[in-house]
Amino acid sequence: MEKFNKNIIDIIGNTPIVKLNKICNNIKSKLYVKLEYLNPGGSIKDRMGVYICKRAQEKGEIKPGGIIIESTSGNTGVGIAIFSAINGYKCIFVMADKQSKEKINNLRAYGAKVIVCPTNVEPEDPKSYYSVAAKLAKLPNSIYLDQYSNLDNSECHYKQTGPEIFKQTEGKFDTLVASIGTGGTISGCSKYLKSKMPKLKTIAVDCEGSIITDYFKSKKMIKAKSYLLEGIGEDFIPKNINFKYIDDFEMVNDKDSFLMTRKMLRKEGIYAGGSCGATVLGAINYAKKLKKPEKILIILPDSGNRYASKLYNDNWMIDNGFIKKNNKKDSLDIQIDKILNNEKI
Ligand SMILES: Cc1ncc(COP(=O)(O)O)c(C=O)c1O
Repeated sequence: MEKFNKNIIDIIGNTPIVKLNKICNNIKSKLYVKLEYLNPGGSIKDRMGVYICKRAQEKGEIKPGGIIIESTSGNTGVGIAIFSAINGYKCIFVMADKQSKEKINNLRAYGAKVIVCPTNVEPEDPKSYYSVAAKLAKLPNSIYLDQYSNLDNSECHYKQTGPEIFKQTEGKFDTLVASIGTGGTISGCSKYLKSKMPKLKTIAVDCEGSIITDYFKSKKMIKAKSYLLEGIGEDFIPKNINFKYIDDFEMVNDKDSFLMTRKMLRKEGIYAGGSCGATVLGAINYAKKLKKPEKILIILPDSGNRYASKLYNDNWMIDNGFIKKNNKKDSLDIQIDKILNNEKI
């Protein structure tokens, strides 16, 4: 029995890389996606959630039976919840109300307490999910991990995800494309990969409404606007973003990102979250501007089943004006109806 994994944390990582074939057939560059939804908790944040907990434990910041508090769009919470299940900690997650019900229910299923805060308030507002999480750290025997400014976040990707990508690819690609939220994934991976591949270019994908791209380009802080994509973009500049390791940004919007995410499932069989479609779209837009085709590696952070009630739900897409209502039956519907009504086809 020794050959088996000792617990679920052991199987985090070593996610596969798959070539995209159909959704990018209008560009010459080759696109490869790293499927982070195949982590046991369903996202790239399994790696980081567990890592920041382990680091806090090593630093003596979490005591036996303690409470771990985190502000999360959902995925980091799962990594922390897995760690806590195994190590006997309690969890409190503070989330913005725009996050999907699936994510909130998923965290409650782990036994965590989930506090939902309004999305459209400034980060400094006492009602924001960041402020509420910081306030809860007054609870005895508790720690607020704070993935935004806790540099163990990007360190995790520098020490684990970056080296894993290098090993899997032998460094044989030209450009890394990743979405940006806390900045941990892109900053950590890029820092490691650029140390091994001096010619590597790193492109961050941000969404309309976020302030990060503007800050990168003009060093000015604009006012954030609301958007529906989850996990990507920010209304402040988290400490985990290290602009030194980012060469450029691609900006995408909600609608095109959701449509691309759905297309990826229908054409490639890849059931991924909205920020994944955003990242692939950003990579395609980047590739369209290239003079010479490249090999592009794209990190896909999480799973589609977190968004079944949203971007994969036609009614939600219609209500948000992203697709048009279509009551027309296709030829297969018509044949099905006939067979079920005992009519000739
Ligand atoms: C679904 C999703 N996509 C993208 C990101 C961005 O990753 P990072 O925070 O490492 O920049 C996150 C972060 O929470 C996420 O949950």
